[in-house]
Amino acid sequence: MTQVSAEIRQRVEELRAVIDDHNHSYYVLDDPKIPDAEFDRLFRELQTLEAQHPELESDDSPTRRVGSAAETSFQEVVHRLPMLSLDNAFSEEELREFDRRVRDRLATEDPVEYVCEPKLDGLAVSLHYENGALTRAATRGDGYTGEDITANIRTIPSVPLKLRGNNIPELVEVRGEVYMPKAGFEKLNARLAEQGEKPFVNPRNAAAGSLRQKKSTVTAQRPLELCAYSMAVTDETLLPATHWDSLQRVREWGFRINPEMRKAQGAEACLDAYSALMQKRESLPYEIDGIVFKVNRLDLQQQLGFVSRAPRWAIAHKFPAQEELTVIEGVEFQVGRTGAVTPVARLKPVFVGGVTVSNATLHNMDEVRRLDVHIGDTVFIRRAGDVIPQVVKVVPDKRPEGACEVLMPSHCPVCDSDIVQIDGEAVARCSGGLFCPAQRKEAIRHYASRKALDIEGLGDRLIEVLVDEGMVQTVADLYRLTRFQLSSLDRMGDKSANNLIAAIDRSRHPVLWRFLYALGIREVGEATAKSLASYFGSLELISQADEDALQQVADVGPIVAGHVRSFFDQPHNQETLQALKDAGVVWQEAQVLERVAQPLAGETWVLTGTLSQMTRDQAKEKLEMLGAKVSGSVSKKTACVVAGEAAGSKLAKAEQLGLPVLDEVGLRALLEEHGLTV
Ligand code: IVH
Repeated sequence: MTQVSAEIRQRVEELRAVIDDHNHSYYVLDDPKIPDAEFDRLFRELQTLEAQHPELESDDSPTRRVGSAAETSFQEVVHRLPMLSLDNAFSEEELREFDRRVRDRLATEDPVEYVCEPKLDGLAVSLHYENGALTRAATRGDGYTGEDITANIRTIPSVPLKLRGNNIPELVEVRGEVYMPKAGFEKLNARLAEQGEKPFVNPRNAAAGSLRQKKSTVTAQRPLELCAYSMAVTDETLLPATHWDSLQRVREWGFRINPEMRKAQGAEACLDAYSALMQKRESLPYEIDGIVFKVNRLDLQQQLGFVSRAPRWAIAHKFPAQEELTVIEGVEFQVGRTGAVTPVARLKPVFVGGVTVSNATLHNMDEVRRLDVHIGDTVFIRRAGDVIPQVVKVVPDKRPEGACEVLMPSHCPVCDSDIVQIDGEAVARCSGGLFCPAQRKEAIRHYASRKALDIEGLGDRLIEVLVDEGMVQTVADLYRLTRFQLSSLDRMGDKSANNLIAAIDRSRHPVLWRFLYALGIREVGEATAKSLASYFGSLELISQADEDALQQVADVGPIVAGHVRSFFDQPHNQETLQALKDAGVVWQEAQVLERVAQPLAGETWVLTGTLSQMTRDQAKEKLEMLGAKVSGSVSKKTACVVAGEAAGSKLAKAEQLGLPVLDEVGLRALLEEHGLTV
């Protein structure tokens, strides 16, 4: 074994201290002092030195936080002092009664000072520090014996491996809650889903599952945090006078304590703290299920003592539960404004998250399958804040015999059009499009939007009114609106009515791509509409093309082709198109009347000089129709240069590079050969 120089030993100590400091700034103070990359460098330097000099390894080293792949069995440990639980106050009255009992026992009429702390929704743990070093961490268990989870606890970055600062007693026990912040929980679940593993129902379960891992390397990957809420020392002469001050000391030792903690004098102030915290509940980055009130003075706590398993000096006041059990009585299908068909669970009404809930979205059929929901199932419903209620889990043991599977209907419950689900998409959609009443307003709004037919003055509010009043059902009805009808509407003057009629009139002669885009076919945006229009040239041909033919168009894949096909397959959509024609809408077919292949696909062309029979823009458009990209500069990669009159440096460069060059006559011949007129 090599002799470790004093220098290396010192560097290792120094690195450990610096890394501990940065960990503390980052995970406890939420105030990083150096960039992650710099931290990683220090960490790697320490890892390397420890690997080179195994005799320097130590359980306190921050490198230990990555965990170990060895399996631990969680040994039973006996708590030095039992880990008690808390009584609950279920109403304001019960809290006042608690305060009354406290004052009676203390024989005082003066208001008692309480510390109000968020009740974190995680798991209680006990941590032993001997001479400042973490030696044992345990779960609460039954309150008297728990399990040794030291290896897993070491991986949590907000748990100090060594206490910081001075004034460190020989033996101290710090207790607190291990929890998983909401953001970390969401990320973890997304990762599990990606890996095809079962996600956790809520952050509490995720925290519990993560602490119970046999391999601490797995725990190390889980976003756990610790928040301290009490301490006990063997030498009680070292205790401060109040719970509040003892937590300040715990904070100085390097623990995170809850920043929402408050002092309150008497029961009414406690109730105010309860309301204030409940208001804040949603915006906190972690879940809490209530508030805990603790008598602040430790001597008074002593005096009050315990009853059975709970202290007389503390009580929890729970918030309304965010999760409850109920039964799925049926599943209905709702059609959204974009045609998405969503399964919605009808529930036996249940009080959850502060309101009575009788519906919960099931999102889509993938979700129905993931949850394995059947009608008749007992399920966990979760409603947090203003978030819509969710079905989070089925209780399989409670499934009644004959529980019904949930099946997607084949036809839209609103308009009876086919429901289609494109391969690779989770969402099923009504193909009723322009016709489906559920999609009506959205279809009209899109049709009139600026990039589509640009009908000025036809805003969202007006569309609402027109549809609700039954004046417009499909876009074709817009062309039958009269001045008289419009001026009868609220807040619609003669002038606006005239302007709107004129704007609608002006939309009667759109170019093909705009009209196609305006139809609001799924996934057919501006660019795809342009490609389809220039490839096929007429709506007739597009509506007759099968999926293979549609996929010949650049950027049209199977999904888009499927949407286009199912749109034109719906008789309702055909009827609406006919109604538009009848109303005098005449779209200008694109110039390409024959199908144009794209012989120049993948090639880059350059135009230079002046053309006599067409503008450069026209030439560019034609070349693009044939699939070419038109660029402004000549390079080795240029496929061909079209040189008009007075071509200059670009032509010279093309000749120098030996590139093919076409003159205007050559260009026209090429275009005509591919069916493009000039
Ligand atoms: S004090 C004797 N403070 O709630 C007092 N507990 O039912 C014991 N908890 O097992 C606990 N936040 O897991 C206390 N600020 C807080 C707490 C808290 C969450 C949990 C803890 C305990 C349970 C008591």
